[in-house]
Amino acid sequence: MPDCCPPKPSVWPARLLPAEAERLAGILHRRIEERMPAPYLTGEAWLQGYRFRVDERVIVPRSFLAPMILEHFQPWLAAPGEVRSVLDLCTGSGCLAILLAEAFPHASVDAVDLSADALEVAAGNVADYGLEERVRLHRGDLFVPLGNATYDLIVANPPYVNAASVAALPPEFRHEPALALGSGEDGLDATRAILREASRHLYPGGLLAVEIGHNRAALEAAFPELDFTWPQVEGGEDTVFLLTREQLR
Ligand SMILES: C[S@@+](CC[C@H](N)C(=O)[O-])C[C@H]1O[C@@H](n2cnc3c(N)ncnc32)[C@H](O)[C@@H]1O
Repeated sequence: MPDCCPPKPSVWPARLLPAEAERLAGILHRRIEERMPAPYLTGEAWLQGYRFRVDERVIVPRSFLAPMILEHFQPWLAAPGEVRSVLDLCTGSGCLAILLAEAFPHASVDAVDLSADALEVAAGNVADYGLEERVRLHRGDLFVPLGNATYDLIVANPPYVNAASVAALPPEFRHEPALALGSGEDGLDATRAILREASRHLYPGGLLAVEIGHNRAALEAAFPELDFTWPQVEGGEDTVFLLTREQLR
C-alpha cells in the first residue's frame, strides 16, 4: 500500500491565515481564468491511492490501466507471480511504471518516453518511491532504446486522440503536452507502431495491454486479423485491449 494518503477530513474545519487565504484565492483564480488543471496547481495527482508529482511536462495521471495493473491483469496473465520483466511504453510521469513495480515485486521495469521533460518528472516520482534500482527510464521512440530486450508483460498508454478530437479539446487539455495526446489523423499512429513490434519483445505467453480511448471500432477495422480481448474496465468500457504474444503473430 502507498505510504502517503490524501488529507484526512479532520483538516476541513481548519481556518486559513490571511496569507494562506490569499494563496488559495490565487490558485482558484488560475483554475477558473486560465483553466489550469488542478493537479498542475497543487503539483500532485492521485491514482489508485498513489501520489505522483506532476507539472505541465507530463499528462495528468488517469489511466484506465492502473486498476488492472494492481489486480495483476487477472485472469489474463498466466502466471503473475512469475513476472520478472515488465515494460511501460510512453511512461510520462512514470505512474504506471511505479504501479507495475509495486504490483510485481520480483520484476524489473523498463519505462520509455520520447520526452526528456517527462522523464525528469518520472525520475522524481521513481525516487519518491525508492524504486531507482528496479525502474529504469529510457528516452526514445517506443521500442527503439530497448534493443532486443524481451518482457513478460508490456503495458502502454500511448497518445491516442484523433486529429478532430484534438482540435476540439477543452482549454484544460491544452495545458497538457501535445505529444501526450494526439497520434495522427485517426489517433492510432503510436498503437500501430506498438502492434508492429510488440511480439518481438514478448516472451512466449507474454501479455500486451494497451489503452486506446474511444478507438475500438477504428482499431478493429484496421486490424481485422487480430483477436483483441476487451476487458471490463471501471468507468472506461472498451478503452483497453489485451493480446498475448501468440495472438500477435
Ligand atoms: C497518454 S501519455 C501517458 C503517460 C503515462 N503513462 C500515464 O498513463 O499517465 C503518453 C506519453 O507518451 C509519450 N510519447 C508520445 N509519443 C511517444 C513515442 N513515439 N515514444 C515514446 N513515448 C512517446 C508522451 O511524451 C507522453 O508522456
